[in-house]
Amino acid sequence: MLAIIGGTGLTQLDNLEITRRLIVRTPYGEPSEPLIFGEIDGREVMFLARHGIGHTIPPHGVNYRANIFALHLQGVTEIAAVATVGGISADLAPGSIVMPHQIIDYTHGRKNTFFDGIDLPVKHIDFTEPYCNNMRANWQAAAESIHEPLVLKGVYATTQGPRLETAAEIDRLENDGATIVGMTGMPEAALARELEISYAAICPVANHAAGRGDSLHHIQYEELVEHLNQTMVRVRNIIAALVKQNGLCKLNERTETRK
Ligand code: HPA
Repeated sequence: MLAIIGGTGLTQLDNLEITRRLIVRTPYGEPSEPLIFGEIDGREVMFLARHGIGHTIPPHGVNYRANIFALHLQGVTEIAAVATVGGISADLAPGSIVMPHQIIDYTHGRKNTFFDGIDLPVKHIDFTEPYCNNMRANWQAAAESIHEPLVLKGVYATTQGPRLETAAEIDRLENDGATIVGMTGMPEAALARELEISYAAICPVANHAAGRGDSLHHIQYEELVEHLNQTMVRVRNIIAALVKQNGLCKLNERTETRK
């Protein structure tokens, strides 16, 4: 079953006909909100708002393990995530929608593995390609089917937040090779991989990152949210197309994305 994880600006799906809500408890605690089951155009899908319905949970406070485990317990094998970002590359202006192929993780102190109990063996997942390429192909096909432009590559720097970055920090991320910056990409993607769930994200760009474009001197968060609402209409359309065309992915099948 396919689940959508929504981030900032996507706490609900307007086009989702909700059939039930389920409170789930996991060994890692409770997810951000009850899981929402519903249908888009007659196709079943699950939805989870990463920051809670009222957007009250900050990026570093999200219980990523509970979220991913709760979906796993309900039989989710594929996750299509939406994570709002700032654009580092000059060409990634607000309104762009990027599908990253790589991640650099700058977070700290987050519970980032299911395998750290005293009676569990250490597990080192392969994370060379952090996103499932079949799921990425599904996102791409969905966007193409409705002629919605999608930037097909991006390097997602995950910062700790909740504050936005300094201009010098963005310079550093760019030197490292990052093209977009957000606060929720990790450990979500790695936890999904640990449970062998196919996972890929699309990232609406809400603002130029600090020190770039019209964020040269400051970032106005309220304006950012207003802009984002417009982009989210297009994101919802891509999600609807994704659900419509959904055929289950084979797990994390490898294709080369680094060339
Ligand atoms: N930085 C980090 N996270 C973000 C940003 C940003 O500029 N915009 C939206 N999420």
